[in-house]
Amino acid sequence: MSKALEGVKILDMTHVQSGPTCTQLLAWFGADVIKVERPGVGDATRGQLQDIPEVDSLYFTMLNGNKRSLTLNTKTDDGKAIFTKLIQYCDVMVENFAPGALDRMGFTWERIQEINPRMIYASVKGFGPGPYEDCKVYENVAQCTGGAASTTGEIDSVPLVTGAQIGDSGTGLHLALGIVTALFHRTHSDKGQRVTCAMQDGVLNLCRVKLRDQQRLAHGPLTEYPQFPNGTFGDATPRAGNSSGGGQPGWIVKCKGWETDPDAYIYIITQAAAFDGLAKAIGHEYWLEDPEWNTPKARLPHLEKMFDEIEKWTMTKTKFEVMEILNPLNVPCGPILSMKELAEEPSLRDTGTIVEVDHPVRGKYLTVGNPIKLSDSPADVDRSPLLGEHTDEILKELGMSAADIETSKSAGAV
Ligand code: COA
Repeated sequence: MSKALEGVKILDMTHVQSGPTCTQLLAWFGADVIKVERPGVGDATRGQLQDIPEVDSLYFTMLNGNKRSLTLNTKTDDGKAIFTKLIQYCDVMVENFAPGALDRMGFTWERIQEINPRMIYASVKGFGPGPYEDCKVYENVAQCTGGAASTTGEIDSVPLVTGAQIGDSGTGLHLALGIVTALFHRTHSDKGQRVTCAMQDGVLNLCRVKLRDQQRLAHGPLTEYPQFPNGTFGDATPRAGNSSGGGQPGWIVKCKGWETDPDAYIYIITQAAAFDGLAKAIGHEYWLEDPEWNTPKARLPHLEKMFDEIEKWTMTKTKFEVMEILNPLNVPCGPILSMKELAEEPSLRDTGTIVEVDHPVRGKYLTVGNPIKLSDSPADVDRSPLLGEHTDEILKELGMSAADIETSKSAGAV
């Protein structure tokens, strides 16, 4: 079985999280990803949040698997010459520097096209063209500027950011799609193109349902929100606690052990089609006869009361017992799983979603494998490279002799 992206060479100028997420995905699909890092320094995340002193951090190792590392100072003359060879050698270049950084190195899009007209040049930036285009951006800034924070949190409380890295990893995913789309286009155009993805746009795309609700507001209250029927709505989509983003009411309820276990909760969706079974399971069959309860519309003003009643029942059972009872009744529900539970879940190990890899300095560590499964192109998840581990090997592939490599090393270019 061949890898889907075998033969595609990626010049990876990415750092931190958004860009590396993108190129790691491409590497899992079989692309040869050459990660370019500053000599002696490398991607700043190698040294951030280190759990073991002087060892590449999990931040770095979990975002840079399956790549090769080449050290190169692209601000030196020798470095620029090698970088030019790399642009000729590769199919795709990916970067997520602060706006203008590659232009300042002398590698504008026009220059890159001169060097290699088939090059696909992909970038993540915080914002698209407009008033903020020159700003540097990190994850939580993107969550705040893309609509996620204003719509996340308890209804009468502060905006909240989410633990899911929708600004960084989310934008990296968007960029990866842009790259493979441009690669496909190149098969008939024979030309490269520019691919850009702004983190604000990526987050807003993931908050699409909240812009939906913004427009629904003009036609009356959002009846599935906890503010309905007694609270008030302003003129913007409000925060909605744990209510469901879809048309079926949902909420997080406590389960047995919640007093001591912060994750003893379950999310339950009271989908209309499965409501009879749910009402019977919790001993509220009378709801099915009562006009105050027996239609989805009638229930809307009582959602808080309904979830209180459901919770009285779930508090007598563990989250897994609730799953066992409700799943056969087709009631959509999901336990709140902690990172510890996920790390230990055997089925996620079996599918390669959680993978243990071995690192020559760190030893064994867990990483999240490829969440996208292709039937004919399996992804083998490997460790991240050491800084400059593949420098000589890659420079030889570019046609440099051992003497050339030594000269570049002594000039501080690699
Ligand atoms: N050789 C020589 N110089 C190099 C180099 C190399 N191999 N790799 C990077 N550099 C230089 C860059 O050219 C830049 O120099 P310049 O400022 O003189 O142009 C410098 O290193 C630092 O790059 P920068 O991107 O400004 O890093 P930063 O740490 O100050 O900012 C971010 C980090 C993430 C805020 C910024 O890169 C950014 O906004 N990126 C776009 C949005 C993004 O992806 N954010 C999410 C990150 S997870």
